[in-house]
Amino acid sequence: MTSSVRHFLQFNDFSRPEIEHLFRRASWIKQRFKRYDPYRPLSDRTLAMVFEKHSTRTRVSFEAGMMQLGGHAINLATRDTQLGRGEPIEDVARVITRMVDIVMIRTFEQAIIERFAENSRVPVINGLTDEFHPCQILGDIFTYIEHRGPISGRTIAWVGDSNNVCNTWLQAACLLDFKLHVASPPGYEIETTRADAAGDHLARFADPHDAVRGADLVTTDVWTSMGFEEETEERKHDFADFRVDAEMMALAKPTALFMHCLPAHRGEEVTAEVIDGPNSVVWDEAENRLHTQKALLEFLLLGQVDPA
Ligand code: CP
Ligand code: NVA
Repeated sequence: MTSSVRHFLQFNDFSRPEIEHLFRRASWIKQRFKRYDPYRPLSDRTLAMVFEKHSTRTRVSFEAGMMQLGGHAINLATRDTQLGRGEPIEDVARVITRMVDIVMIRTFEQAIIERFAENSRVPVINGLTDEFHPCQILGDIFTYIEHRGPISGRTIAWVGDSNNVCNTWLQAACLLDFKLHVASPPGYEIETTRADAAGDHLARFADPHDAVRGADLVTTDVWTSMGFEEETEERKHDFADFRVDAEMMALAKPTALFMHCLPAHRGEEVTAEVIDGPNSVVWDEAENRLHTQKALLEFLLLGQVDPA
């Protein structure tokens, strides 16, 4: 409808300079927040959050973030709205984007959020789809930079399902120029078209130990993502050799970080020793969802605010 409106539906909807701007703003916003120094540039602005799947981190970080910036957030769960009774997503978009300033959606197929955005008068943010989770990778890379400096030229190892989070890491690798090593069980590999488009930024491994060797960061995710629950038992069998444990982590660089978007299943995709161990930064990673998304809300609503 309004082609000039910017959305964040995939990580590479933004340019590298725009992503780097977000990281600078997230750092500034985080420092002010830690000093209890209010920053409320979004007074009278409203965020609608549409959740068609469960959430803890995304819900709290967007709602708290919007309120800390001086605005308001409305939570819309499918079951409580007309979406749950079959109202077309296009009609929902046309209506709610006349009432609010920005929308975050967590849903199933990427096509749903694209249809919403096509009918939106305001910016739309992807809060997770089956294909992508761009807000997660904003937080993850910001966390990497905080702990270890620039990510460009580094090697990130992904162990497990080639899911929404993995797809987004791959987009980020191409945009920010780092290398992604991916090890997935047969049948759960990265789609060929995505792999081909990534060129040298992607290397695929059959054995997760080979993917992790020499990596700067090791990351994984649940074996069964939301929406695929009927495959849970089959996946437990198929992913049994794709658990990040201390022996696997020891193959990465001694300075390697461990990340997980959470929620985690200790004893499945990662051992408690690793996720609760000294290389793990999962709690910083979760917190940084708040600061990076506040920078994202500021950018989409106010444009490129100069560093103060
Ligand atoms: N990592 C993440 O998006 O968490 P939630 O599902 O709790 O929002
Ligand atoms: N891949 C997971 C991420 C959850 C935050 C899922 O889609 O369920």
